[in-house]
Amino acid sequence: MRYPPEFIDKVQEAASLLDIISQYTQLKPSGAGFMGRCPFPDHQEKTASFSMSEAKQVYHCFGCKKSGNIFTFLRDYNGMNFPEALEYLADRHGIVIPVANDGKQDQYAQSQDVKKQVLKMNKIASDFFKETLKRSSLDSPIKQYISKRKLTPETIEEFHIGYSSSEWDRLSLHLQKNNFSMPLADEAKLVKARKEGQGYFDLFRDRLMFPIISPSGEVLAFGGRIHDQGEPKYLNSPETVVFSKSKVLYGLAQTAKYIRSEDCVIIVEGYMDLVSLYQAGLKNVAASMGTALTAEHAKLIKRMTNNVVVLFDGDEAGQMAAERSLSILLSQGLYPRGLVLVDAKDPDEYVNKFGLAAMNEKIQKSSDLFNVVLQSWMIDYRGEASQKVKLVDRLKPIFDSISDNRLKGLYAEDLMMRMNVTKDWLRSALQASQAGGNNANRQAPSEAQRGQNVQNLQSQNSTAIDTAQGENSTLHIGREVDPNDPFGPLTEKIKISDANQVELMLLQMGLKSRANFEWLLEYSETITKEEFNDNNEVPTHSQIFGFKQIISQINHLGVRKIFEIGEQVYRQGVNKFDKFFTLLIDKIDKPEMLFQNSNLGAAAASPHNQEFDVEKEQKYLFDLIKKIQQNFIKAQSKKMASDIKSDKQGFDVDKLKEFVELQKSRLSLKK
Ligand code: GTP
Ligand code: MN
Repeated sequence: MRYPPEFIDKVQEAASLLDIISQYTQLKPSGAGFMGRCPFPDHQEKTASFSMSEAKQVYHCFGCKKSGNIFTFLRDYNGMNFPEALEYLADRHGIVIPVANDGKQDQYAQSQDVKKQVLKMNKIASDFFKETLKRSSLDSPIKQYISKRKLTPETIEEFHIGYSSSEWDRLSLHLQKNNFSMPLADEAKLVKARKEGQGYFDLFRDRLMFPIISPSGEVLAFGGRIHDQGEPKYLNSPETVVFSKSKVLYGLAQTAKYIRSEDCVIIVEGYMDLVSLYQAGLKNVAASMGTALTAEHAKLIKRMTNNVVVLFDGDEAGQMAAERSLSILLSQGLYPRGLVLVDAKDPDEYVNKFGLAAMNEKIQKSSDLFNVVLQSWMIDYRGEASQKVKLVDRLKPIFDSISDNRLKGLYAEDLMMRMNVTKDWLRSALQASQAGGNNANRQAPSEAQRGQNVQNLQSQNSTAIDTAQGENSTLHIGREVDPNDPFGPLTEKIKISDANQVELMLLQMGLKSRANFEWLLEYSETITKEEFNDNNEVPTHSQIFGFKQIISQINHLGVRKIFEIGEQVYRQGVNKFDKFFTLLIDKIDKPEMLFQNSNLGAAAASPHNQEFDVEKEQKYLFDLIKKIQQNFIKAQSKKMASDIKSDKQGFDVDKLKEFVELQKSRLSLKK
């Protein structure tokens, strides 16, 4: 849903970057800001080069150059999108999340309330399972099972792994003691009503418990593994108001940050596979919990990275799962690679047997999943006519699901050679095959959709195959944006990396404090008139400054645009300006350029802070403006000189006058 601007404002006012980042790294006051070791896992450092400003609500690491605001942090560190981050922050600060305005408020509020209760209950259950495991004696079967599986105490802690005791009502009693009603516990699928009518019993008994935790830390559901002989091996929470297997991947609470920083996710099937790889040191992993990957899973992945390595068990089920995931992943525009393990039954066994280095090497060398699947389909291929037709029928739904036309074209060329068919044959076979297909909305083909929309696709397929290239993927930063955002939905980041040094410095200085921006906006005109032109000449038009004048002389369009939007924001209310820098950070191609030679501590300082010398700052701004004007006039007079030279109609007196004026101001600027 779309949240009202007042709500977003409220959340942003309450939110504290210090509060969030302090969860992950220790920050110490430094100047007017804070410094600490960089919390991002891809930047492991011993010295503190991560700085943040609470006043400005931005962070910047001088080591790895990452910078951003609270929303980029929650996105990059925890994999939350904008609405999720908003809700998370609202919850954290006790702000009521508004409900949809569609006449179903009561219903919605009620269901929100049930969700909250269920999450609360799950958390209590998870803590209870953890506690139960801790209390089990060292020689208990569950502890022995854990050591057999080689799980370390750190891993148990990191994944909040627990144990559900073998009695029938331990959890039920514990939940009742915490004032939860049994019907609600039933709704959470933690207990089940007895058939005989009276009372409830615990669903999970005598199992090793894996809580399934969302990236923001909510306990959504559980997977419980039997540690003894018995059926079923795993008992998973059924669907509840807070859990849907097709939308959730296991492990993201711990691994999302690594997936982001590695820009790659390794998908495995099982809880144990994930935990085991993580323990071995391979941390950018997510587990599908034994189900087929869905389009929703793929979308979830896409929010973190485009690069996927599917690591499935070496058995037939694993091979099937790999095949099914191919079109799902391709249709979301992801780049799947695949690896079917042969010397071990699953990744857990593999890494325990051969070690991390061997596992990593396998992953590095994995090929495109398309090729992995194709290879298995072509095992008995001898190029007979009937084989060609059957294979192409099998491939068609996969081709239809590929959303990147460049990829489609390349796969087609490859296929042409491997199958030993001509381009024309392949093209028409992919169009006319019996299997049909659907690509209208770039979803993986479903049974119901097969056979429809065949015509829609034909032109698309043929162009892709002909040219082996297609549309470029554009950067969509504005997918889920703040409606209050003055930058609106940008399709591309504003480029500042090619601005000249002086203009960049002005941008950096102007945004450094509200006082500086205010000076540029409100006072630069008077000051320049009186002080700049200290030889008492009447200023020429180009010397009267003021904000409009300054920005009109800025050569770089990106820098100019940022100042213009900054002005708009400032005019909406002085307080709003404080948010401007925070928002800007995520909108420019090289945010680190705004931090060069500066220290965020000072940047955060208000004019009342002693460290902040107002006059010195203004003098510096003033020099920068002077320099920008010099550059501007230089360019102008150069252009005019060449205009006059090339003017075949002879002298234009007005133009000449203008030129002389320009030269004059140039000279006065040199002083
Ligand atoms: P270990 O056997 O302990 O190594 O676990 P694993 O994670 O390797 O299990 P496996 O490869 O057999 O299964 C992969 C995933 O499928 C598991 O992690 C579960 O999520 C799911 N799964 C496996 N067995 C069952 C089952 O009997 N019932 C249900 N509902 N899910 C299962
Ligand atoms: Mn296993």
